[in-house]
Amino acid sequence: MPGDCAPNPVASPYDHLTVYYFSGTGNALTASRWIRENAAKKGMTTDLLSIDRFQKVSVPAAGGKKLIGFCYPTHGFNLPWIMLKFIARFPARERCDVFLLNTRAGSKICKWFAPGVSGIAQILPALILRVKGFRIRSLFPLDMPSNWVSVHPGFKPATVVAIAARCRVMTDGFCEKVLAGRMHFRPNVFFMMPIDIALAPIAFLYFIYGRFFFAKLFFASSDCDGCGLCADKCPTASIHMVDRRPFWKFTCESCMRCMNLCPRRAIQVSHLLAALIAVAGSLLPLALLYKAIDPHLPSALRGPVNFIVNWGIAMSLYFLASGAAFWLMRTRCINRLFTYTSLTKYWRRYLASGIRARDFGKGRSRR
Ligand SMILES: Cc1cc2nc3c(=O)[nH]c(=O)nc-3n(C[C@H](O)[C@H](O)[C@H](O)COP(=O)(O)O)c2cc1C
Ligand code: SF4
Ligand code: SF4
Repeated sequence: MPGDCAPNPVASPYDHLTVYYFSGTGNALTASRWIRENAAKKGMTTDLLSIDRFQKVSVPAAGGKKLIGFCYPTHGFNLPWIMLKFIARFPARERCDVFLLNTRAGSKICKWFAPGVSGIAQILPALILRVKGFRIRSLFPLDMPSNWVSVHPGFKPATVVAIAARCRVMTDGFCEKVLAGRMHFRPNVFFMMPIDIALAPIAFLYFIYGRFFFAKLFFASSDCDGCGLCADKCPTASIHMVDRRPFWKFTCESCMRCMNLCPRRAIQVSHLLAALIAVAGSLLPLALLYKAIDPHLPSALRGPVNFIVNWGIAMSLYFLASGAAFWLMRTRCINRLFTYTSLTKYWRRYLASGIRARDFGKGRSRR
């Protein structure tokens, strides 16, 4: 079995590995654990540190030869905001070795394993770390099963197992090189780089629109019993329990954890609300006003004004519509309307194999 091998003959030049991870549904956590296992086989001590709700950045103690890793999912062709903040605040360290592992939306079509797309999820943090003096040993995209269950159903168990088994083999290969002190860059990292960079504007749009939009589409159906698990386990403390019902704040990362952990499958994404917002956005008076003044604006101003007006419209709409929907959904028949027009009501959920609610929390595991 992959990863089940005898102690590795190639010694590591490192004596300690620290992996900082953020993981919505367990993919990045699983990959971090695989890496920890490999490091332990090489006799290294390890720290696996969750950055959920981090207040301050803890750094490995000085001395010895350290390797630092950052593992996180790809969100909207970028890294999650929480991980970007963490890396941006990470203290500079000259000549310290780091690697970046971003899990992506892998899928399987017949026998073909389709990869996800990194966008700037590696390039941006790599640049930040390089400027801080770190030496990048690897940029490693790992195509774990896609967890974006608000836009597609979770994969069948057999597909999940096949994708994860392939990833395990690739991660062991990655560890073989990186833990031995070698650099490791898969050719597709360079091959895809021009496309990844070209996706930067979409990554930027996701940052300022997408994540807020998706956050505000979550709601709890009347199956919710107010247990509060979703609020407890949210990595960004973005769920408030109001009258024993979850309310989603704008700080949500859309990591999909709450939706996939809910024991009653009560968390849905309102596709009806998404459609209403899209239609209302084009009808709002502000949008009409903008259309009226647009021809009179100097051409240099049109782009930025368009952008600001649209952003303002979208954010006001999300704010108003989600607040209104939250209160309206207290009425049973309206709640049912939103529930039965939500595709997620019928879709399979996703959690990485073996991952349970107890795997998420603010604690850390040390070896
Ligand atoms: C909101 C959201 C956006 C995503 N965007 C991308 C993306 O741009 N590219 C990609 O390959 N995968 C994307 N994915 C898929 C996840 O990155 C992927 O399933 C990852 O392995 C999840 O890891 P986790 O379980 O550790 O959170 C996205 C998932 C979500 C929920
Ligand atoms: S985890 Fe599910 S059942 Fe529990 S409070 Fe959240 S939505 Fe309701
Ligand atoms: S509210 Fe849900 S999707 Fe948003 S960050 Fe918290 S757990 Fe993730």
